[in-house]
Amino acid sequence: MATALEDRDPNARNPYVQGIYAPVDREVTALDLPVIGQIPEALSGLHVRNGPNPRHRPRHPHHWFDGDGMLHGIHFREGRAAYRNRWIRTRDFVADAQGGEGACGADGVLVPRRRAAGGPAYKDTANTDVVVHAGRLLALWYVAGLPVAVDPETLETIGTETFGNTLPRHVSAHSKTDPATGEFVFFDYALLEPWMAIGTVSADGRLTHHARIALPGPRLPHDMGLTEHYQILHDLPVVFSEAGLRQGLWRIQTLDQPARFGVVPRTGTNADIRWFETDPCYIYHVANCWEEGDEVVMVACRMVPNHLPPNPQWREFAPMVNVLKLCAVPVEWRMNLKTGACTSRQLDDRIGEFPVVNLDRTGRKTRWSYHVAMAPDPLMRFEAYLKYDLETGACIEHRLPPGWAGSEPAFAPRPGATEEDDGWLVSFVTSPEGTSEVQVVDARDFAGPPVARILLPQRVPAGFHGTWMRADQFAL
Ligand SMILES: [Fe+2]
Repeated sequence: MATALEDRDPNARNPYVQGIYAPVDREVTALDLPVIGQIPEALSGLHVRNGPNPRHRPRHPHHWFDGDGMLHGIHFREGRAAYRNRWIRTRDFVADAQGGEGACGADGVLVPRRRAAGGPAYKDTANTDVVVHAGRLLALWYVAGLPVAVDPETLETIGTETFGNTLPRHVSAHSKTDPATGEFVFFDYALLEPWMAIGTVSADGRLTHHARIALPGPRLPHDMGLTEHYQILHDLPVVFSEAGLRQGLWRIQTLDQPARFGVVPRTGTNADIRWFETDPCYIYHVANCWEEGDEVVMVACRMVPNHLPPNPQWREFAPMVNVLKLCAVPVEWRMNLKTGACTSRQLDDRIGEFPVVNLDRTGRKTRWSYHVAMAPDPLMRFEAYLKYDLETGACIEHRLPPGWAGSEPAFAPRPGATEEDDGWLVSFVTSPEGTSEVQVVDARDFAGPPVARILLPQRVPAGFHGTWMRADQFAL
């Protein structure tokens, strides 16, 4: 039975609208920010991070994954820094603002909406990921939506990106840009249909390839791998419950079957995919993939069970709290294209996630991967950054002060660098008092103090994924 408190606010017990998760209600532009330490003169570009930030106070029990997308960006230029945050104006966000038909409730709550073709659809928030392509940013959504092009200077929405009306359907978060060709290589999947799709958009914004890959049933992939010649698709035995989807609820179920990775040439079709079976597991995030002889190598974070005790204070939010804990360890898989064998090797037993690499090496062999370490709290909080040597599994920790919360970092390479880890790790961090700053850590002095702390005029809520955009990647 609802208490008086819950009658007034259905999220009164929802920890993911409070503390470091509480949304902010202002869009801010702040130039020439105060700095503790010194911003390296050579650090030039943009770190931008996406995340959920409900525009209206949710009127129903709210899922953290469902908030309107907001970008937070820090521009570095000539030793100075500027901050902006902007909501992402997806079509559904705009429909909400106008109160138009088709809006999924005025608060971004999971209210199913029926399209003419039938089946549930949800508010496309583009709140999950942001990638650089063709001089712009593309904001992407984790259940595959319409990409939203964003101006990297202002973080203002340019509009829904259909690549000149050539995009067949949707694009999932964690699609990637190939640093060598400038191509945007993407994947798509449907909540209730048994397929995934692969696609490529050229550096000048034209769709050059698209193919559907058949599956035994609807799947719930979260990421994909990219190498010089291949895409790696995830067919994992954790899926949405169809009954749940039809009620508009995110309910997951496990299937009694192995996990499979599908290695498909980037220009290939369903006939070309090679599937590699491995032990059942779920994977949210891939660090990087590459080719090595006959093998395709994938380093990713494999989920491990979390053993959170039930906490009565969260009541109906307890399942969400458990799912959001993201307990995972780094693992390397090797898929041999000649023998068909798939082997795996756990690199470490520390609990971490949100891996990032030097994006100039996406799809090519990398030695270094940067992860966040999870605090032993019931809620997800990043208490440290981890720099992994993927050859040995050795790890250097950069710890935040007690109680502080980190955010997925980005690696900013030093212009002209020849070594993979010559650059800085840039991230948004928040103090227990609720003040936020951007910290710049020298990646080659990883355990050392930040070289610069840029103080921000408002708190940056905990969020999802970000990227680094080099100054020379901005459209002229
Ligand atoms: Fe993700």
